[in-house]
Amino acid sequence: MIKKFTFGTPFPTESVVMQLPEASAFPEYLTLSKDQTTLSAALDSDAIVYGLGENVRGINKRGWKYISNCSDDPSHSENKNSLYGAHNFLMVDGDISYGLFIDFPAKVTYDIGFTDLDKMTISVEEANYALYIIEADTLPSIIREFRSLIGQSYIAPKWAFGYQQSRWGYNCEEDIRKVVKGHRDNRLPLDAVYLDIDYMERFKDFTVDEEKFPDFPDFVSDMKKENIHLVPIIDAGVKIEDGYDVYEEGRDHDYFCKDENDEDFVVGVWPGRVHLPDFLNDEARQWFGDKYKFLIDQGIDGFWNDMNEPALFYSEKHLQEVFDKLKEFQDVNLDLYQFFAFKDVVTGIDNNPVDYESFYHNVNGKKIRHDKVHNLYGYYMTRSAAEAFKRIAPDKNILMFSRSSCIGMHRYSGIWTGDNSSWWSHIELIMKMLPSLNMCGFIYTGADTGGFGDQTTEDLMMRFIQISMFTPLMRNHSALGTREQELYQFKDIDSFRNMLGLRYALIPYLYSEYIKAVRENTLMFTPMGIAYPEDPAARHIEDQLVVGESIMIAPVYKQNAVGRYVYLPEDMTLLRFRSADDVDVIPVEQGHQYVNVALNEVLVFVRKDHILPLGPVVQSTADLDYSHFTIYGQSTSPYTMYTNETNTISVTPA
Ligand code: GLC
Repeated sequence: MIKKFTFGTPFPTESVVMQLPEASAFPEYLTLSKDQTTLSAALDSDAIVYGLGENVRGINKRGWKYISNCSDDPSHSENKNSLYGAHNFLMVDGDISYGLFIDFPAKVTYDIGFTDLDKMTISVEEANYALYIIEADTLPSIIREFRSLIGQSYIAPKWAFGYQQSRWGYNCEEDIRKVVKGHRDNRLPLDAVYLDIDYMERFKDFTVDEEKFPDFPDFVSDMKKENIHLVPIIDAGVKIEDGYDVYEEGRDHDYFCKDENDEDFVVGVWPGRVHLPDFLNDEARQWFGDKYKFLIDQGIDGFWNDMNEPALFYSEKHLQEVFDKLKEFQDVNLDLYQFFAFKDVVTGIDNNPVDYESFYHNVNGKKIRHDKVHNLYGYYMTRSAAEAFKRIAPDKNILMFSRSSCIGMHRYSGIWTGDNSSWWSHIELIMKMLPSLNMCGFIYTGADTGGFGDQTTEDLMMRFIQISMFTPLMRNHSALGTREQELYQFKDIDSFRNMLGLRYALIPYLYSEYIKAVRENTLMFTPMGIAYPEDPAARHIEDQLVVGESIMIAPVYKQNAVGRYVYLPEDMTLLRFRSADDVDVIPVEQGHQYVNVALNEVLVFVRKDHILPLGPVVQSTADLDYSHFTIYGQSTSPYTMYTNETNTISVTPA
């Protein structure tokens, strides 16, 4: 049952799709402050708090403070409170269990046992929001009810389950051809290559640099013939440059966010000075969305939206203040206090809170200050694209994922988890994010495989591949200036080839489980405590996940580890894969086990009374073959496999 409580006059975020009547009785397990901005609840000693989507730390969010405030922060360390998304759904699993969703577009702070381990306090910036409380017998039922409240998740095309290669710094057609050749020569399967900001003319959205790509449509079609999809990036900011049509149209029609004097607000991002399209203005949103046609007409069928928190390197106004202020420090003996004050002036330039309070949206003629609706910006940018795709190419399923997000955007696109690092702890982090993201409706998702920032190593990449091979988005992406990390750059290419081969053999199962998660409002990645609610030993395990209905994974995420402990809540079949065709099949008993996992091995546990159908190894999703499967595990009932968004086949156990 979903209970809705409305406080004040909430901004219509369009995060939910159901109209519900107001509930009368406020739940006795929640306390609402007099001013209606704070909700608090006791947490019993064994309670788990699930949810909050894209965030640092564990699956159980208890013991930290999280703030919904979409932030461009490339350091995903455990001292952070906000990443790129605002995902206001959580679920308390304790003596009393319930789900809670706060439909509010600005800051919400979740103190989940941070101040007091036994207490949860949620503070909403203003008493203008809708609160939804979901009560049901089981956690999966709470999730199902919540997900039907927010509407069906976006469905990505099947080719987007293929292996994808990206890097900031592929500069021209030649660079990309080299990447494709590198994969083909080494028989590393590949479905897509990404175009980062380098493809544009001076970082201008909806342009292609003609010197770097002399005949872009021809190039796109050449790549298509090789079953390679090119996926260009689109940034939120529009470069201020006379003669640039997007800039001029936006300016002439008042489609950009305004400053307090009703002038177009100026900030700095990649191209230098830009304006921010006002995605909350219906007309502007439609206008920007229609711009994607420029690339769709040239054969493009996938995009990633970026810098849409929005990321602000500086605002014109604040930058001037910084320059003025810096003069005060010149020729001064900078002591402790002055040096830190000086440093703060400089390090506080980007994504400065004051800048987010300095510009305005036009929402149906009403001027709304940005910080009041901040968390909707990336959502509405992506929505502008997705709505336009329906007009521009109604018969095509175009890949779309975004960096910034808010619940509601899940109906329009997937997300990637932004600028992670080549750190072992970030293999662990994606494992913890996946179930939380799924709860909030984000099913097409994945992390930058190998890590975006910092220097990767061959062993880290191998272990990263071994978790990414289960995520819908499997994209190797890295930052400019970091070590090159295409799989053919490493020594043991054979093992990488084997891992990718296994990924492609798993696609029929993974894609099918993805469609089920979308259609049935379930999790594709289920925490052990939810998959095995009757088993106290499974309850707090956070480094194993159930993937779809049939398998459990236990990735290795520690440097130099050659094995790990695994807990089996039931007897299972362990598959020790070195490749799709080189596998040991080992029955393992319920209980705690230590398992060896060499660097070139990945373990899959087939659950009791379940089967895993593995398809043939192919080089591209264009060659996926549903005619025969190798079946692992045992079951008395057939496995229902979605072969596309709507059709199923029945796969019979061996
Ligand atoms: C941002 C994105 C990253 C991209 C870079 C350059 O940092 O998160 O993925 O490579 O911008 O466009």
